Amino acid sequence: ALVSMRELLDHAAVNGYGIPAFNVNNLEQVTAIMQAAHEVNAPVIMQASAGARKYAGESFLKHLIQAAVESYPHIPVVMHQDHGQNPEVCQGAINLGFSSVMMDGSLLADGKTIADYEYNVEVTRQVVAMAHATGVSVEGELGCLGSLETMQGEKEDGHGTDAIMTHDQLLTDPEQAADFVKRTQLDALAIAIGTSHGAYKFTRKPTGDILAIERVKEIHRRIPNTHLVMHGSSSVPQDLLAIIREFGGDMKETYGVPVEEIQKAIKFGVRKINIDTDIRLAMTAAVRQYMAQNPSKFDPRDWLKPATAAAKAICKQRYLEFGCEGQA
Ligand code: G3H
Ligand code: 13P
Ligand code: NA
Ligand code: ZN
Repeated sequence: ALVSMRELLDHAAVNGYGIPAFNVNNLEQVTAIMQAAHEVNAPVIMQASAGARKYAGESFLKHLIQAAVESYPHIPVVMHQDHGQNPEVCQGAINLGFSSVMMDGSLLADGKTIADYEYNVEVTRQVVAMAHATGVSVEGELGCLGSLETMQGEKEDGHGTDAIMTHDQLLTDPEQAADFVKRTQLDALAIAIGTSHGAYKFTRKPTGDILAIERVKEIHRRIPNTHLVMHGSSSVPQDLLAIIREFGGDMKETYGVPVEEIQKAIKFGVRKINIDTDIRLAMTAAVRQYMAQNPSKFDPRDWLKPATAAAKAICKQRYLEFGCEGQA
């Protein structure tokens, strides 16, 4: 059944686990996530970005997710709008039937310029008012995602800025988080702790100086009833990079967020973990390998099948690693 984000994350908090929120753009990704969730009896969060809506169209996305709900009636599913750029986008998603929306007021509506705090409070508060009126949950964001190695706001995959930022801007302040929650009454808060979107997060396996997992604890202590969200949480598995390179891909050396760091973050209070890039890497590795090894094949179903299987495998692995097994 379609459920609100609040309902799923409340259950995760009471039972001490985290839920991966997977980005979806097409049938194969939706199918992979549902098969994985079904096998381990995990709750599901599927989210659509602005890029996904541009790629597939919001009606196709909505009906793909509704088809998933219909096909797996025993699994609770959240249909979440990822990174809403303004209240109008969030209102549109609510009208379409999304059960959760993100108002990302950390940036202005251009998706690039860093917003001031009062703007963020105002747009988030507006979205909470309209969403809560119909039982829809709201995620906000405080602090700017970006690299503590280069001190740049993120720029990978077209998100955010490449502005040079201060150390403070790249980490969510626990006191400001407490004020933000009090004034907006939102359900979930995305925090900045050194992660960024896309495949190129870290130039080395991250240590505490560039990935501030301990900060989760301090924020959670101040706002224990608001569910914490980690964006940019793909782990960028080295074995997938190796397959992509072996079969003709060109990807530079890069590191993601190690699963054991995410597991620590879950212990400290993170409940929603956003993952897009790992599914992209898994599908690309599978397709490259399949195409190289089966040069005579031309039916898209032949190469989409291993891509779906690879996406399913990484989703299932994350469900198990984050403690979702049997929680549906
Ligand atoms: O929000 C971040 C996700 O990785 C979505 O990326 O806008 O390219 O679909 P996208
Ligand atoms: P990744 O690029 O690390 O998968 O992050 C996705 C995300 O945060 C979507 O909002
Ligand atoms: Na989101
Ligand atoms: Zn994100």
